[in-house]
Amino acid sequence: MTKLLLIDDERPILEVLDLSLTSEGYEVITAESGHEGLKIFEEENLKLVLTDIKMPGIDGIDVLKKIKAIDSEAEVIVVTGHGDMDSAIAALQHGASDFITKPIRDEALMLALERAERKLSMTKQLKDYTENLQQMVERRTLELKQAQEELIRNERLATIGDTVAGLAHYIKNILTGLRGGMYMVNTGMARDKSYMLQEGWAMVQRNVEKVSGLVLDLLRYSRERTPERSVCRPNEIVSEVVELLKDRAKEHHIELKKVLDADLKEAYLDRDGIHRVLLNLISNAIDACIYDTDTSKAWKVTVKTMLATDAGSGETILFEVTDNGCGMTDEVKEKLFTKFFSTKAGRGTGLGLLNTQKIIYEHGGEISVKSKVGEGATFSVRLKREMLEELTIDDC
Ligand SMILES: Nc1ncnc2c1ncn2[C@@H]1O[C@H](COP(=O)(O)OP(=O)(O)O)[C@@H](O)[C@H]1O
Ligand SMILES: [Mg+2]
Repeated sequence: MTKLLLIDDERPILEVLDLSLTSEGYEVITAESGHEGLKIFEEENLKLVLTDIKMPGIDGIDVLKKIKAIDSEAEVIVVTGHGDMDSAIAALQHGASDFITKPIRDEALMLALERAERKLSMTKQLKDYTENLQQMVERRTLELKQAQEELIRNERLATIGDTVAGLAHYIKNILTGLRGGMYMVNTGMARDKSYMLQEGWAMVQRNVEKVSGLVLDLLRYSRERTPERSVCRPNEIVSEVVELLKDRAKEHHIELKKVLDADLKEAYLDRDGIHRVLLNLISNAIDACIYDTDTSKAWKVTVKTMLATDAGSGETILFEVTDNGCGMTDEVKEKLFTKFFSTKAGRGTGLGLLNTQKIIYEHGGEISVKSKVGEGATFSVRLKREMLEELTIDDC
């Protein structure tokens, strides 16, 4: 049963309306003044009000304003005197849902009440729906957040798992190498065989290099640093790295070639950083030839330097490392710079390219790669040749 508050200062009108509305199925509460009406409205938590406009004390418009201030969703129908259009308009402007004129006709009153009730029920439906929607969105958001957290946790666990497994394998290989070297050194000493001594010692050295490389890579990866620049000769760095790797290339029948631009003299770079970059790229290129299953190829790794002068960006140093080894699939290409990504099954740390990229970015440079499966790969590094005019090679 809908509760309805009737406010009118004329008792007979109240009584007639009470009778007819009760017979229409409303639960009617009456008030003889605006003041009393407002009190009841607040106490009874009502939604539907019918009020006269002209009343002594608080008039109908004020009642309407106060009711709307308490509950903007309440529906208030006002009763105006015949022809009192000004009051009717004022009431509508203050949010009355309808107005009816005196003398009150039952049909007009019922129509106004029906409309007001329909509005009330629609407002309630809309409110319920919005609340539901909000709850649903909140629930779904929470579920999504939980799923996301779980995913991140799993991914992190997987990464840690992969890392530990990969690194453990890598370190185990180094230890095996070290033990092999030590065994040869011992045997060489025991049997007085100098060639065994030399070979064993070289093995030990190679594996010690690997450990220090790994430690350096891990440290480099974990540290933010700005490049420690000095004036140096890029071609010289290339020659140094090629010298370091030439034996390994030769051992696997790979031609290791330099094509150096004589115009590229001095540059202002982090010498150790660029050394590391080239060591990583050339080692990878040699590995790509070693891992290549097409043994009919004459494997070749070429390291190029170039000094390019662009009109806009000034002088650029270009390092290019090209191999005709195994190449890589699009999937591998996508993961190249991901930490601990390696296809070398325990023979790589998967930190080389990540660190290479980091060093290049720290220099404000760029790295790009082109590759086709079975045909090889080219890694290109572009760096600005930032020079301090007053510095010369002798100062560093
Ligand atoms: N020149 C290349 N040719 C083919 N694959 C390459 C080359 N350079 C890098 N890769 C791929 O990128 C992976 C990641 O390289 P890197 O970060 O140096 O780690 P790692 O050498 O320890 O495996 C390598 O395992 C290899 O699959
Ligand atoms: Mg590598």
